[in-house]
Amino acid sequence: MLSTKASNKLKPTKILMVCLGNICRSPVAEGVMRQVAHQYDLNVEIDSAGTAGYHIGEHPDPRSVRNAAKNKVDISQLRARKFSTEDFDRFDYIFAMDANNNENILNLAVSPVHAAKVRLLTDIKFPGEGIEVPDPYYGTERDFQSVFELCTAACEAIAIHLKQHA
Ligand code: 4NP
Repeated sequence: MLSTKASNKLKPTKILMVCLGNICRSPVAEGVMRQVAHQYDLNVEIDSAGTAGYHIGEHPDPRSVRNAAKNKVDISQLRARKFSTEDFDRFDYIFAMDANNNENILNLAVSPVHAAKVRLLTDIKFPGEGIEVPDPYYGTERDFQSVFELCTAACEAIAIHLKQHA
């Protein structure tokens, strides 16, 4: 029988990445976080979701898939789903890509415990600066690369934070 302390050590930290459609930004954040978590040997589970249901069941936007692949991250098999209030109990950290996503998620929170799990993806890298991952849906290839780079910087900071607080 494992002691409580030992079994807690085996419990993964659960991270949810959230944007609007779950096809452009949050799948990239999910894929990048998976790769960074592997590099940092973190015990985590990672998922993503959208606050809107426009693209439920779809693979990520081909531009996100292509750009992630260019950076050696495979997100081609992910599928979009909508954020659910059950996610507040399922996840330890809920990272919003922008302020609107953040607000939309917080509007669904029914307790301070739920609300405390929600923050901007960039908040650990750039505390309190309110830096958003801009929506690239109507943008260019370059915007998708900027999303990738910002997600990478943010996820590395999250990994370091988790390592320090494990
Ligand atoms: P995402 O980008 O929130 O990063 O997945 C968008 C995807 C789809 C739409 C908007 C943003 N849309 O309006 O369908």
